[in-house]
Amino acid sequence: MDKALTKWSDDLRTEIIWQDYQHQELLQNMNSLHQSILEKRSGEQVSKTVAFLDFYVKDHFGLEERYMETFQYPELEAHSREHVMFAGKMERFKSTHASQGGTMAAMKLCFDLNEWFANHIKTSDKKLGLFLRQKI
Ligand SMILES: [Fe+2]
Ligand SMILES: [Fe+2]
Repeated sequence: MDKALTKWSDDLRTEIIWQDYQHQELLQNMNSLHQSILEKRSGEQVSKTVAFLDFYVKDHFGLEERYMETFQYPELEAHSREHVMFAGKMERFKSTHASQGGTMAAMKLCFDLNEWFANHIKTSDKKLGLFLRQKI
């Protein structure tokens, strides 16, 4: 499987500095996670990247949700539901990885996480960015 994961590009920019920075970091980490699985690196290394990614995603979603609350974003509920959906995928990824190690299933889930995240940025986060730019 040599399909590439989505990497950072200008069309993903929301023009909210912290949001763009974190999205960039998250995509980079998803790419290194995928690379680690591909190269069959030690399970420990993959687990460390998964743990970091898991923490960073929660932190990032939390920050977006605080901004949405503070500025009373009208689509807060729908946007937060999308975050919950992603967290569910992340949990699936963690348990697949824990039970099967560096398998095709883990790679497939890695693509799934990456694709979902890139789509979320292009649609929901960009919309939020546009809203926040009018408020801050
Ligand atoms: Fe985001
Ligand atoms: Fe978001």
